[in-house]
Amino acid sequence: MSIKIANTQYDVIDLIKNRWSPRSFSTKDISAATLETILEAGSWAPSANNTQPWRFIYALRGTPGFDKLLATLAQGNQPWAKNAAALVATVGIRETPDTQQKNHYFMHDVGMATSFMLLQALNMEIYAHVMAGFNKQQFAETAGLGANEEAVSIVALGYIDSAEKLEEPYKTRELTARSRNPIATIAAHLD
Ligand SMILES: Cc1cc2nc3c(=O)[nH]c(=O)nc-3n(C[C@H](O)[C@H](O)[C@H](O)COP(=O)(O)O)c2cc1C
Repeated sequence: MSIKIANTQYDVIDLIKNRWSPRSFSTKDISAATLETILEAGSWAPSANNTQPWRFIYALRGTPGFDKLLATLAQGNQPWAKNAAALVATVGIRETPDTQQKNHYFMHDVGMATSFMLLQALNMEIYAHVMAGFNKQQFAETAGLGANEEAVSIVALGYIDSAEKLEEPYKTRELTARSRNPIATIAAHLD
């Protein structure tokens, strides 16, 4: 299997260095309890005023719900995401129910929760691949989202498998080294 450890400039923690977004998932299942552990990790992310403007809609492989989520994915995502052990849709809540005010940070906070889930998952040797490539309208109808809710991403989760199992162009992508913009280009010290 491919391991794509980040080549960092500084001593970043292993969980972050080792995380990446694979497309080759093994046939090993994720238990319901393991998936709920990942979801709970997401729920412990910080959010503006602790509004927790998120909902997670998930399904395990081999269930009707999984096929429904899979059907919403873009053509480029379905061929490999079908092998994930679980799919988790992250949903944002646009207005805070208590105040009925627009929550300007809901997307930010859903992303925070998603990050926590990814790191919790990897700590249990489960890899994740976030996707924005899905039909949001179809998903909203499938999941019965409310007017105040917006689909943000669908995350494929599973134990990793060999790149050799993938067709092109996915195989090449699986084997391509990861890269990031250098710190000097994204961070600036304010004098
Ligand atoms: C919001 C978001 C949307 C993404 N959408 C897709 C997608 O639809 N299909 C896909 O193959 N990868 C998708 N990705 C994965 C990114 O391409 C990937 O995270 C990026 O190339 C960095 O690679 P790494 O996660 O392996 O470090 C998405 C990632 C994020 C955070």
